[in-house]
Amino acid sequence: MPELAEARQRLAEAQSVAVLTGAGISAESGIPTFRGAAGLWNHYRAEDLATPEAFARDPRLVWEWYNWRRETIAKAAPNPAHLALVKLERAKPSFTLITQNVDGLHNLAGSARVLKLHGDIWRMHCTDCGSNWPDRRVPLPKLPPHCACGGLARPGVVWFGEPLPRGMMNEAEHAVASSEVFLVIGTSATVYPAAGLVPFAKQNGAVVIEINLEPTPFSESVDFALEGPAGELLPQLL
Ligand code: OAD
Repeated sequence: MPELAEARQRLAEAQSVAVLTGAGISAESGIPTFRGAAGLWNHYRAEDLATPEAFARDPRLVWEWYNWRRETIAKAAPNPAHLALVKLERAKPSFTLITQNVDGLHNLAGSARVLKLHGDIWRMHCTDCGSNWPDRRVPLPKLPPHCACGGLARPGVVWFGEPLPRGMMNEAEHAVASSEVFLVIGTSATVYPAAGLVPFAKQNGAVVIEINLEPTPFSESVDFALEGPAGELLPQLL
């Protein structure tokens, strides 16, 4: 694959690298993606499970779904793609990992700094007092869980219609704007504002390398669109 060799060369030469990952990077760890043939949104409606309105309507139902996802994720281990990004972080003077994933596998693999645009499934957030805390219990003993203050707890994730954690998108854009190479791995690139980072990288002069099983809306406009599993392609790219 001559394209892979050329992409590898561009990545090797770069001093500053930014990466955006999506559910596809964790697929080979056994965590289902949202879209595509076996995607979660084929079986469930996002508006019933991943919106503030759904949670207000039926917190127990939403928590049952998150409890099930926590169980699936708890069984998963990082795969060669997550591990390759740990190596890359150590090799580059400037490196930023931006993820849409809430599974925590980048941290588990050993990535030191991760911008979690969509939050973290292992954190709780009190809808009353606003406090945040980690909770790795699987399964949760009582649904829906509550805060020490008595308030209803929600998963520490970003739902459709909600803003991203304060300042995080700015930080991501800053990293992307100053990167020579931008890697886009395992994301359908359809959910904004995260997907907007791809054209933003191009506008700011980065070489954009996409790794995905199938074409995305940006495959035609990126510099390299590598088709295949991230767990195989990413180690080859380094
Ligand atoms: P999606 O499920 O939309 O897309 C996963 C992408 O990964 C698809 O383009 C697949 O082709 C690709 N893929 C699957 N397996 C792969 C593999 N082994 N190697 C490489 N690519 C692979 O996931 P995201 O783009 O992350 O947000 O979705 C974005 C957001 O939408 C999520 O963070 C979540 C979701 O609804 C919220 O819940 C707010």
